[in-house]
Amino acid sequence: MTRVALVTGGSRGIGAAISKALQAAGYRVAANYAGNDEAAAAFTKETGIPTYKWDVSDFDACAAGIARVEADLGPVEVLVNNAGITRDSMFHRMTKDQWNAVINTNLNSLFNMTRPVWEGMRARKFGRVICISSINGQKGQMGQANYSAAKAGDVGFVKALAQEGARVGITVNAICPGYIATEMVKAVPQDVLEKSILPHIPVGRLGEPEEIARAVVFLAADEAGFITGSTLSANGGQYMV
Ligand code: CAA
Repeated sequence: MTRVALVTGGSRGIGAAISKALQAAGYRVAANYAGNDEAAAAFTKETGIPTYKWDVSDFDACAAGIARVEADLGPVEVLVNNAGITRDSMFHRMTKDQWNAVINTNLNSLFNMTRPVWEGMRARKFGRVICISSINGQKGQMGQANYSAAKAGDVGFVKALAQEGARVGITVNAICPGYIATEMVKAVPQDVLEKSILPHIPVGRLGEPEEIARAVVFLAADEAGFITGSTLSANGGQYMV
């Protein structure tokens, strides 16, 4: 049976690696994206994975987008809530817009995306919901009160929903990546990266997107049905919980 997987933010960064890894594992994959049409077109050309544009912070857009994916590919059985943004700023300079943008895209998206697929997963008695949280939701990060709050919220969402899904064959898990070599991390000022971040990663390097993708494939598998409500850290030893 070929299962259908939907990856938000699935055409760039960690999300692109997740989409490709799920495809390689035999899933029919749809990749959502929000803004970068050029990157999405290039991604589809390279991989054959269809891309769908909508904003995960908008509930109605998510419901409509998911309906399009399901009409094209079939019911979504694996949902990877990966899309996320940063608007880093010390709190004394953080604006309401910076706060709201991150909470809406990184946390409210979990409701917006998971709610429309949840009833179908319950009815079919199978589902995998995997949320990409962050080390910075676990430990907190200066300059990221908005992002850390949203990412910690992801973990609470996962733990609550895992309890609801358990009896109907749905697992809900979080992965907490550390600092991964993507555009998001490359946007961190170089001196901050070199002086304040890299020295605290015991493996001595940034992670690779593929190192997160393989954890997604592991949790998505039919055989992973006993793993639910968990938080899987993949951070090079930077923070151990
Ligand atoms: N870890 C430790 N110290 C940090 C830090 C970090 N991640 N970020 C900033 N600092 C320190 C700086 O080294 C600096 O220390 P000194 O005063 O001793 O030099 C102090 O905080 C103030 O920083 P800035 O001088 O850079 O202040 P600023 O107002 O110009 O900028 C900032 C503040 C926007 C937060 C900027 O420092 C920044 O972008 N920092 C990176 C924050 C960060 O780690 N973001 C993670 C992005 S990647 C991601 O989010 C993916 C994920 O899930 C892991």
